[in-house]
Amino acid sequence: MKVTVVGAGNVGATCAQVIAQKNIVKEVVLVDIKEGISEGKALDLWQTSPVNYYNTRLTGSTNDYSKTAGSEVVVITSGVPRKPGMSRDDLISINAGIVKSVTENVIKYSPKAKIIIVSNPLDVMTYAAYVTAKKPKNEVMGMAGILDTARYRAFLAEALDVSPLDIQALLMGGHGDTMVPLPRYTTVSGIPVTELIDKKTLDAIVDRTKKGGGELVNLMGTSAWYAPGSAAAQMVEAIVMDQKRIFPCCVKLEGEYGINDMFVGTPVKLGKNGVEQVIEVALNDEEKQLLHDSANAVKGVMDVLDGMNIL
Ligand code: NAI
Ligand code: 2OP
Repeated sequence: MKVTVVGAGNVGATCAQVIAQKNIVKEVVLVDIKEGISEGKALDLWQTSPVNYYNTRLTGSTNDYSKTAGSEVVVITSGVPRKPGMSRDDLISINAGIVKSVTENVIKYSPKAKIIIVSNPLDVMTYAAYVTAKKPKNEVMGMAGILDTARYRAFLAEALDVSPLDIQALLMGGHGDTMVPLPRYTTVSGIPVTELIDKKTLDAIVDRTKKGGGELVNLMGTSAWYAPGSAAAQMVEAIVMDQKRIFPCCVKLEGEYGINDMFVGTPVKLGKNGVEQVIEVALNDEEKQLLHDSANAVKGVMDVLDGMNIL
């Protein structure tokens, strides 16, 4: 089984590394537009195989998509990352052009691939890939919810001094400041988190989660990559291993939650067919309002992209 990761930058290379170390596919192909970078990183990663005990073969290609032919899953991370002071939406015109051309190339050689978008602004780039790919909606999805939930879970684990493994949480909406962490669906090994933490601390964690990407941009001068690359690799694993895992992912909604023709994060079941089910959980009025506000924020950026006539 072959998986392609387009963009051999920080997120793409990390994603390829994590997939390889899981030892779940035969080959990972890294593609980048910069001459030699994907070949170099793939070679460097492949040389970790004897040390890190995996068989997955890593290869690189400078913009030659014939090497990606027959990929089961393609992760698209190509694009420009956020710099300090830049919002995710500032990236729209540059990254939409990149996502469009990359998707066209990917589809040409791997028409059956499940496509996972990572490039920002995430929800709108997922829309761009969906429009370009002309594939069924279950085969094009975006990665953000696993990352945002991981940040939320990590902050909670720290505050409660418990293992992050025991924090189960749900977060919905767009990948931006309007995202909707859901304390009502957050438990610590089944115990509602609200029984273990005071409201002020929980509210502060929710707020920090929403700004989690920006916190890292301010620290590093560029956006995060370890957690994003690992989160995308977890989606790849769920698909290639047909795990039927339930994760928050960005998908096209067609009436679920009263939202139509928009791309936002909701819990879904991921398996060999990609998004096998959109799971509708009961939301109270306040949560519904927050989700709709978030979806409307995404819709605003989708409209901006539509107005650019790039797709
Ligand atoms: P990076 O700059 O390290 O890597 C991007 C790579 O894409 C570069 O190597 C570049 O040469 C390549 N590239 C550009 N145009 C290309 C094309 N047409 N074809 C193939 N490769 C091309 O950036 P980084 O940090 O890896 O971030 C990648 C993207 O992921 C950014 O848009 C960033 O905002 C986004 N991101 C999204 C997250 C999410 O949760 N969805 C989290 C973190 C980053
Ligand atoms: C992040 O959340 C910037 O989307 C990127 O780290």
